Amino acid sequence: MSKPETPYRKRALGDRPLKPETLAMSYGFDAKLSEGSIKPPIFQTSTFAFSSAEEGAAFFRVMGGRAQEGDPATPGLMYSRFNNPNVEVLEDRLTLFDGAEEACVFSSGMGAISTVLMAFAHTGDVILQSTPLYGGTETLIRNIMPQYGVKSHDFVAGAPEAEIREAMEAGLKSGRIAAIYVETPTNPTNEVVDLALMAQLADELGERQGHRPPVIVDNTVLGPIGQTPLSQGGDISVYSLTKYVGGHSDLIAGAAMGSSEMMAPVRKLRSAIGTNLDPHTCWLLARSLETVKLRMEAAFRNAALVANYLKDHPKVEKVRYLGFLEPGSRDHTVHQRQAGDYHGSTFAFDVEGGQAAAFRMLNALKVVKLAVSLGGTESLICHPGSTTHAGVDPELRQRLGFADGMVRVSIGIEDPDDLIADFEQALQAV
Ligand SMILES: Cc1ncc(COP(=O)(O)O)c(C=O)c1O
Repeated sequence: MSKPETPYRKRALGDRPLKPETLAMSYGFDAKLSEGSIKPPIFQTSTFAFSSAEEGAAFFRVMGGRAQEGDPATPGLMYSRFNNPNVEVLEDRLTLFDGAEEACVFSSGMGAISTVLMAFAHTGDVILQSTPLYGGTETLIRNIMPQYGVKSHDFVAGAPEAEIREAMEAGLKSGRIAAIYVETPTNPTNEVVDLALMAQLADELGERQGHRPPVIVDNTVLGPIGQTPLSQGGDISVYSLTKYVGGHSDLIAGAAMGSSEMMAPVRKLRSAIGTNLDPHTCWLLARSLETVKLRMEAAFRNAALVANYLKDHPKVEKVRYLGFLEPGSRDHTVHQRQAGDYHGSTFAFDVEGGQAAAFRMLNALKVVKLAVSLGGTESLICHPGSTTHAGVDPELRQRLGFADGMVRVSIGIEDPDDLIADFEQALQAV
């Protein structure tokens, strides 16, 4: 159930539904409660005063799932590990873009992912995952969750349905499949996972096991402007808000969103283990959301120009850009259905001559900065094999087609000709 409509949570002007980019300026914030301030102040406080002991007791009952007759539907402000006005404003606004009933924000993308997985997968359970995932998520699922008795089975993103089903059958032999976890498009190789197929497998598993696993989709790489997984078969979208949503490479945060039913165990676990986000970072993110569409669309336009330049360069072997998917291919069809004409601004390409040549190019770039991460206003480039994905088993990296000279670039909103000129001079060093 979405939050009740209030004067500051109105999504329409008469009969006209308002767009997320309009609502992003004010939704969920009542200026009257903050001296008429046009923007939410930062509620830099750890705790909130109750108006009476009875009210405090009622809030704790509602928060703990022990509500009594006459208690409010949602708890009032209590303690900033549980709730805070800046957290609530940000969560309300995030739901607009993804069409979610509820969002939960976290201290990092990994905080969101680990809290969601722990909320659904318990000892003896299995996670069915696509691969590759972001390196940190691969480490979490393959190395850390097994320490708590949670196993995993994988399929390569973009694999034929028969192979995905084989992984599912293998998973079922090891335990209850508690969650289907995918990343699409994949970081860094831009492979595409079919979310409608994932939803179909989740339905089948529901009938066979008596438990329908949620389809959890990491939507960090295309972001909420590029695609909305909840409309395509996903049950929960997870994000590293550090990337496009934050968008300025100046904060670390994460989010999960979906129906209120899906979010209930996630929110409860977040309150228990304290993977919540601080008020100041929430305030920065609410500010970022006002420009997320402008920034992302500008970066996407720039990326198309840079990718086209790189594609024809003699020292570049393969550009894994979503705009180059072969029309009529499975990936192209799935991508069109899930993201339309959005091709993102993060892609990998292979430099001829392997790692040494790639390093020479990386060291020669002057405008594009050599750093991990993606989705900022500035362009960033890295060598995933030795950085973000260094912890991934070399055999798996090979299976996934990571070339030694593969670099990943996240194109920002600089002048595109300046970016192309930078690649032109740096590729001379190869
Ligand atoms: C696709 C993806 N998911 C999750 C994460 C983890 O996010 P964070 O660094 O905010 O914990 C990253 C970080 O690079 C990522 O690229």
